[in-house]
Formats: sequence, C-alpha cells, structure tokens
Amino acid sequence: MRILKNTLLFLCLLVLGSCTKAEIPLVGENPLNRPVTYTQDIQPIIFNNCLTCHSSVNPRNGLILETYAQVRNSSEFGTLIARLNDAANPMPQSGLLTADRRALFDQWKSGGYLE
Ligand code: HEC
Repeated sequence: MRILKNTLLFLCLLVLGSCTKAEIPLVGENPLNRPVTYTQDIQPIIFNNCLTCHSSVNPRNGLILETYAQVRNSSEFGTLIARLNDAANPMPQSGLLTADRRALFDQWKSGGYLE
C-alpha cells in the first residue's frame, strides 16, 4: 500500500515537473522557441561586452551602443554583426563571444530587429 502511495506521489510530481518546465522559457536556450528581442536578449549582451568602449563616455571609433536605435542602426546598416563574427578582427577585441550569443544576433536580425 505504501509503495503504491509513493509511486502515485512520484508520478504526480513527474507530471507537475514537466508542466513547469514547458511553461518557463529558458533564457540562453538556443534555439529559442520565442522571438529574440533587443530588451530581453541583445541589450544584456551589449551591456556586458561592449559598453566599456562604446558608451557616450569616450566611444571608440565614435560608435555608441547605448540605445535600441543605436544598436539596431549599427546592426542593420553598419558592421556590428559582421564584426561579432569576424574571427580575425572580432568585437569585443578580446575574442569572439560564444556561438550561442552570436546566434542570438542572427535570430534578432531575421526576426526584424524587434525591440
Ligand atoms: C576594449 C574596447 C572595445 C570593446 C569591449 C568593444 N569594442 Fe568595438 N571597437 C573598439 C575599437 C578600438 C574600435 C575601432 C577599431 C576597429 O574597428 O577595430 C571598435 C570598432 C567597432 C566597430 C566598427 C566600427 C564602427 O563604427 O562601426 C563595431 C561595429 C564595434 N566596434 C562593435 C562592438 C561590439 C558589438 C562590441 C561588443 C560585443 C564591441 N565593439 C566591444 C573597441 C572595443
């Protein structure tokens, strides 16, 4: 009897567990099963990897990447995405970001640069 109870409890937890997993979108999961947006995905990467050199305080090459419009402009019309993936001359200069992070920029682009 006790074993049956425990088994039932285990099965309930299993079902609950799988529901929870399906509902919480995992940030950093790739490919994402939701659209990539600037605010959720792109901005944190820029803030953590680019702003030391590309903020309005002494922007290298005059390139400022503080706002959605600035990052979108450099991605759509400039060389931002090319430089992210340029192994010989990468941005940041310290080396290529992980493939997952770079793929987010490609998904952002193909999704139409959502804010
Ligand atoms: C340690 C400083 C540093 C960091 C960090 C850095 N950059 Fe740069 N970046 C530079 C310098 C210096 C140049 C100009 C020389 C060159 O093009 O290599 C430049 C040039 C660029 C250019 C080409 C020039 C232009 O005006 O379009 C792009 C695009 C760029 N950076 C994007 C980024 C992005 C995106 C990140 C973060 C993922 C980043 N950079 C991180 C220093 C940095």
